[in-house]
Amino acid sequence: MNHVPVMAGEVMELIDAPSCSSLLDLTVGAGGHVLAFMALSAPTAQVFACDRDEVALELSRTTLDACGDRVRFLHGDSEQCCRRLIEQGVQVDAVLLDLGVSSMQLDDVDRGFSLRVDAPLDMRMDVTQGQTAGDLVNGSSVDELERILRDGGGEPRARRIAEAIVARRRQRPVRTTGDLRVLVEETLGRRGGRIHPATRVFQGLRMAVNQETQLIERTLPLALQLLAPGGCLAVIAFHSGEDRIVKHFMRDRARAGDRLLTKRPAGPSPAERRTNRRSRSARLRVLAVQGERS
Ligand SMILES: C[S@@+](CC[C@H](N)C(=O)[O-])C[C@H]1O[C@@H](n2cnc3c(N)ncnc32)[C@H](O)[C@@H]1O
Repeated sequence: MNHVPVMAGEVMELIDAPSCSSLLDLTVGAGGHVLAFMALSAPTAQVFACDRDEVALELSRTTLDACGDRVRFLHGDSEQCCRRLIEQGVQVDAVLLDLGVSSMQLDDVDRGFSLRVDAPLDMRMDVTQGQTAGDLVNGSSVDELERILRDGGGEPRARRIAEAIVARRRQRPVRTTGDLRVLVEETLGRRGGRIHPATRVFQGLRMAVNQETQLIERTLPLALQLLAPGGCLAVIAFHSGEDRIVKHFMRDRARAGDRLLTKRPAGPSPAERRTNRRSRSARLRVLAVQGERS
C-alpha cells in the first residue's frame, strides 16, 4: 500500500510551514501531510484534521497519536467541517485540500472503488450518508447517467454506455463492480490498452456519488474565511475539472488583492513521478490571502 503524501515538500515550502502556528487539513487521509507539517512547524503548532471517511480518520488518529492534543479530529466533508470551525471562530495559517480518493480507499476491496475486484457498487467516501453508485446506476435516467459519465468521467461514449446500463437493468439490477465492468466491456469492447475501458465510467460515478465537484465549489470560499491574515490555501487536484474550479477561484481572488503563489500549477518532481504513480496527475495551486502572518 502506498500512503506517501503527494507533493508534501512543495506544499510545506509554499505554505511556509515553519512560520505557521496552525493548519487545517480538510482531507487528512492517512495523515501524511500532517506528519510533514508537524516535523517542520513549531512544537506548539495546532492541526485540525478532517475527513469524510471515518475509516481514514481512525487510521490518521493512530498515525498521529504521538502528536497528542495538538491535533483535533473532525468527521465530515470539507464544507461541513469549515462551517463548524467558522461557527467556533477558528482561524488558521494554512488550509490544505488533497482531493480525490486515497490509495487506502482504492485498496479496500469492499468499498467498490476499484474495477479490478468484484464488490458491491458503493463508492461512498462517507458510508454513513448519501446514495451509493448502485443507487445511481439502477435509479438514474439515461440523460442523468450520460451526464455523470461525461462530466465526471470525461467519457466520450457516455450516451452509448448510459443506454446499455438502462437496457441491462430492465432485465436485472447492476449490483457489483464486476457487473458494471463486464457491461462496459461488452458495450465498448475490450481493448488491450493500458487504461481499462471502464476506468472513466468508474471515475464519473465516484465523483457523482461523492458530489466532489460541487463540494469543492462550496468549500473554497469557506476555507478562505478561516484563514488568518497572510494565511495560505493549498489545493492538490488530480482531475482537470476540479483543477479548473480551483484555478478560476484563485485567479478571481488574486484580482481582488490576494497573492497567487503558483502562477501555473506546480507538479511533482521527476523523482516523485517515478516512485509514486498516483502523483503523476497532481496539480498544486496555492493562494496567500492579504496581510502579514503574525
Ligand atoms: C488523497 S487522500 C488524502 C491523503 C492525505 N493528504 C495524506 O497525506 O495521507 C483524500 C482523503 O480525503 C478525503 N476526502 C476527499 N474529498 C473530501 C472532502 N471534500 N471532504 C472531506 N474529505 C474528503 C477522502 O476520504 C480521503 O481520505
